[in-house]
Amino acid sequence: MSVPVIEVRDLARKFGDRTVLNGISFTVEKGDTLIIMGGSGCGKSTLLRHIIGSMRPTSGSIKIYGEEVTAMSPAALDKLRLRFGMNFQFGALLQSLTVGQNVALPLLENSRVSPDIVDLVVKLKLELVGLTGFEHLKPAEISGGMRKRVGLARAVALDPELLFSDEPTSGLDPIMTAVIDQLTLDLTRKLDMTAVVVTHDMVSAFRIGTKMIMLGTGKMQGKIIAMGTPDEIRKSDSPEVQQFINGQPDGPIPLKLAREDYLERLLGQPRPEDL
Ligand SMILES: Nc1ncnc2c1ncn2[C@@H]1O[C@H](COP(=O)(O)OP(=O)(O)O)[C@@H](O)[C@H]1O
Ligand SMILES: [Mg+2]
Repeated sequence: MSVPVIEVRDLARKFGDRTVLNGISFTVEKGDTLIIMGGSGCGKSTLLRHIIGSMRPTSGSIKIYGEEVTAMSPAALDKLRLRFGMNFQFGALLQSLTVGQNVALPLLENSRVSPDIVDLVVKLKLELVGLTGFEHLKPAEISGGMRKRVGLARAVALDPELLFSDEPTSGLDPIMTAVIDQLTLDLTRKLDMTAVVVTHDMVSAFRIGTKMIMLGTGKMQGKIIAMGTPDEIRKSDSPEVQQFINGQPDGPIPLKLAREDYLERLLGQPRPEDL
């Protein structure tokens, strides 16, 4: 079999004495869409940041296309990241630039393309996310949901081989969520892109995922508590998984913990501009 696109082995990360990721191992094959799910604060965004090399683990290995990311120099990481599209929760758009200029950024930074081509690609990508005609507005002049879609258009500007998306549809209405999901599906199925998507929208997760992992909270903090195909996850006999995918308020995931996590995040972390 060919080398997996992503291979994570025994990944652990502590912040101080708090273990946030613990014994994480999984692989992502070409063309897969891996869904990372789990309650708020379970370590989903932290896991993504480790995979793209913007955080270093306490221990463990992360390989992308067979190359060890955890030992890579900044220059090597920059080179590798040319193959990524990144659509991050806190990866805000530049407020001083227009929507069109924001989408054009990766093109201007990373490739030698003529201005005509840049304009064409910007139009095409904005059309893909349903934002034709908005290129001259500033991020402050559009809604939070629209900003999210601009973020995705920017992430796919260079037709990446590998897309990382952190909650791409949170705060979007069901129709826009379907549009974004369809776009991810088109890119993965037709262009063979590989994607890693963090989401707690279960409709979206089952629509686009080919493989899913769920991270635990509480005693199971940062451990994979379930992994499998969407079908296997749906049939999982874990009460935590069933509670999560069916959105039930009562179950083994304690509400008090969820509330504490919420407060911690609200007080301790930057708030996403579009929530
Ligand atoms: N840079 C950091 N320093 C200290 N703690 C952090 C840092 N980043 C994340 N955490 C903590 O790690 C836990 C997981 O965070 P995160 O990955 O953002 O969760 P999720 O994306 O699943 O909601 C949280 O308790 C958070 O407070
Ligand atoms: Mg997160």
